[in-house]
Amino acid sequence: MPTYTALQAADPDVYRAVIGEMDRQREGVELIASENYISPAVLETMATVFNNKYSEGYPGRRYYGGQEFTDNVERLAIDRAKQLFDAGHANVQPHAGAPANVAMYFALLEPGDTVMGMDLSHGGHLTHGHPVTYLTKIFKFVRYKMKDVETGEIDYDDMRKVALAEKPKIILAGFSAYPRELNYAKMKAIADEVGAVTVADMAHIAGLIAGKALRNPFHDGFDVITTTTHKTLRGPRGGMILSRTEEMGKKIDKSVFPGFQGGPIMQMVAAKAVAFGEALKPEFREYAKQVVANSKHLAKFFMDHGVKLVTNGTDNHLMLIDCVASWGIGGGEVETLLDSIGITLNKNMIANDTRKPMDPSGVRLGTPAITTRGMKEKDMETLGNFMLTAIQNRSDAAAVKKLHEEVKTFCLRFPVPGITAA
Ligand SMILES: Cc1ncc(COP(=O)(O)O)c(C=O)c1O
Repeated sequence: MPTYTALQAADPDVYRAVIGEMDRQREGVELIASENYISPAVLETMATVFNNKYSEGYPGRRYYGGQEFTDNVERLAIDRAKQLFDAGHANVQPHAGAPANVAMYFALLEPGDTVMGMDLSHGGHLTHGHPVTYLTKIFKFVRYKMKDVETGEIDYDDMRKVALAEKPKIILAGFSAYPRELNYAKMKAIADEVGAVTVADMAHIAGLIAGKALRNPFHDGFDVITTTTHKTLRGPRGGMILSRTEEMGKKIDKSVFPGFQGGPIMQMVAAKAVAFGEALKPEFREYAKQVVANSKHLAKFFMDHGVKLVTNGTDNHLMLIDCVASWGIGGGEVETLLDSIGITLNKNMIANDTRKPMDPSGVRLGTPAITTRGMKEKDMETLGNFMLTAIQNRSDAAAVKKLHEEVKTFCLRFPVPGITAA
């Protein structure tokens, strides 16, 4: 574990915040579906002197001198990313997932062009065309949805009808809150009919694809994959854009730099190289498989106890609970209650929600972080019981306090990588 002695001496206020956050991560259960714990090697790399270097451009083609080692780590990150995802080209410079999507849109579209993405209330992300983003001032977004919220099946017939009418330039797969697999081959066939480029925003499930637990959209002919590197992929906070062909990759490169960003955050590029190296190891496949096994087990546990899950199950790392149907309370109330016993998840809108985004009907939870800590199927039952007991006894302050102690004792059995006991 880093000692942070220099930080402690220089800035005790920030030092205390860092130590507080380490304790919070160690003593609580992290069920936020987009979060994870990085390895000590990735953590170390993020705090290296690569921070001090400007490297505008790409390996072998930079605007500043002194690039021997930056070129080396960026090439490592690129080569490992290509190998992990069977990609023809990788751009590892996007600062995060949202900038990766913006750079992708500007590489492939002209202002006024149309994008077809998943309806946000059915699981799509803000960058897939929410009116609060500036993207909607420049591009037009049309939607596809689930045909049946009980199974989660996408309405591919309607997708085709809308695509034929609206002629989107991009058909976008991907989501932040959808627990099922998409049929990439069907989406690709529709895109081919209307001449659209196929893009998969795999921010949430990149690690599960890299670990071969879920299908790779490139294997169904998709053109581009955008992703974050910090969720299931278990790398540093950042983004990445993969292309099936070199030709597409050239357009993406120009759009990321100089089109949209300045210098890459090179310590993060180096940390991406380390994380991708870890993801190429056989242990990572075991991890990805266990994430999905844990998620399915927890989903079944809830359903066996009368809890209503959106789409009645999961194929991936996340699930959505309809709290109103399950317990007659909103997702916000469940989030606050579980926070008070040391279990962190997030309130979430569910399909056709009648409540407001700040007080929605559901919560979203996922298993990437707890699986990194080494939890297995039987631990999912322990966690499920903690959650159901908290909800049943929510008006009994003493019972809630006692549960918090039990959660903490349970948690401390599972070490967080990079954090040892104080
Ligand atoms: C599908 C999807 N795309 C993009 C993003 C944006 O990533 P970031 O927060 O790194 O900008 C997210 C993050 O939640 C996401 O789930």
